[in-house]
Amino acid sequence: MNPDDIPGVERVLFTAEQIDARIGEVAAQISQKYKGGHLKLIGVLKGSVFFMAALARRIEVPLKIDFLAISSFSNKTGAPGLVRIAKDLDENIEGEDVLLIEDIVDTGFTLRYLLQTLSSRGPNSLAVCTFLDRTSRRIVQVPVDYRCFEIPDRFVVGFGLDYHQLYRNLDFVAVMKPERNS
Ligand code: IMP
Ligand code: MG
Repeated sequence: MNPDDIPGVERVLFTAEQIDARIGEVAAQISQKYKGGHLKLIGVLKGSVFFMAALARRIEVPLKIDFLAISSFSNKTGAPGLVRIAKDLDENIEGEDVLLIEDIVDTGFTLRYLLQTLSSRGPNSLAVCTFLDRTSRRIVQVPVDYRCFEIPDRFVVGFGLDYHQLYRNLDFVAVMKPERNS
């Protein structure tokens, strides 16, 4: 899709070409790190799907993939950051070298919960690779081992990231106009 045809889009932040080049660099780092072994990529549905597919094709180490889905909610006092698993992994991860794939790490609540849950299942190693990182909004400190891009404090769509479930299929990342923020 052409960014000019999408209502609410302010500007393109990363083009398809920039994303492709950066994913190649990150995939090379990962391939180097896990050389000689096997990897399990775990994607967090739905946002990580596009990134994970692109990244996996560039990693030169045999790998398996699995997915989980989470839902975030607030408690009665309105406290943010509560997360639960809505769809669990199909296979166990005991003894495996796991790389958790995220679309974006924002406050860090989702990632903290996922790392606690997955580490309790006895993987041989557990690392994190995120497509986007918005460190300016971090509330809880979480380890991020690999990331493609740091982004400003603006709502973005594309390459897996949605606005009310739309625009995940854009091959670029765009900043939405402020009035469209949610
Ligand atoms: P957090 O790190 O727990 O705050 O949550 C990160 C999640 O919030 C991501 O997995 C996205 O689903 C969603 N999210 C955060 N920022 C954006 C954005 O700019 N666009 C689309 N989704 C976002
Ligand atoms: Mg989302």
